[in-house]
Amino acid sequence: MPEPRTFRDEPVSFVRRSGRMSEAQERAFDELAPFYLLEVPRAIASTSVHTDARLDPAATYGRTAPLIVEIGSGQGHAIVSAASARPEDDFLAVEVFRAGLARTMLDADKAGARNLRLAEANAPEVLSPFLPAGAAAEVWIFFPDPWHKKRHTKRRLVRTGFPQTAASALADGGLLRLATDWEDYALQMREVLDEAPEFERAFEGEWAERFEGRVMTAFERKGIAKGRDIRDLTYRRVARS
Ligand SMILES: C[S@@+](CC[C@H](N)C(=O)[O-])C[C@H]1O[C@@H](n2cnc3c(N)ncnc32)[C@H](O)[C@@H]1O
Repeated sequence: MPEPRTFRDEPVSFVRRSGRMSEAQERAFDELAPFYLLEVPRAIASTSVHTDARLDPAATYGRTAPLIVEIGSGQGHAIVSAASARPEDDFLAVEVFRAGLARTMLDADKAGARNLRLAEANAPEVLSPFLPAGAAAEVWIFFPDPWHKKRHTKRRLVRTGFPQTAASALADGGLLRLATDWEDYALQMREVLDEAPEFERAFEGEWAERFEGRVMTAFERKGIAKGRDIRDLTYRRVARS
């Protein structure tokens, strides 16, 4: 019998932060997770997704509507705000940071947002194959961990191979929206996406306009306070032939 695998082949783009959860955060998991948190069948690690598992958006949300997926949603400020402002669309927050997931559920509940679900899982595995091909109208990645030290850049989420993973989840004509305060990561994102035949630029000039649906988060505020420029990028998923 082969030994069960414990580690993934690819480096992941996160380090799981531990630490005790507050009472409110524990309550979020006890009381709100049954509605908001998807049950994700696991494979290797506790944040993995079993390769046979598939999300059924119509059954999950109880309707068919455009699906917006945010990768690395952190505390959930952007996605809860968007889900509240756009009741006609469905939203999926993908995050591995448990305290952030708890905050997202508490805020979503307070806002009465019922068109939002959360997946506690490694984002590339959610994009493919957990999401059916073409299921997402948009994929958002705002302020992904920069991994700015040279020896760490291989851990960046948006690297060679990632465009194909995102392209699998996106519908033809769907949008991939990104923002970062790290110039060399912005350049890397633009390079790998410009090279990907699955995507075309949906902006003119050097960078995209700031996406108006993106609320200011602590990460953006911190970047600005440190004197870094914020760069947005928007790419359109080319139609499958
Ligand atoms: C720098 S924070 C930004 C959070 C949020 N987008 C914001 O602007 O406030 C990046 C987040 O991405 C999450 N993350 C990183 N890699 C991930 C992955 N592969 N799957 C799911 N979440 C991930 C981290 O846990 C972290 O909360």
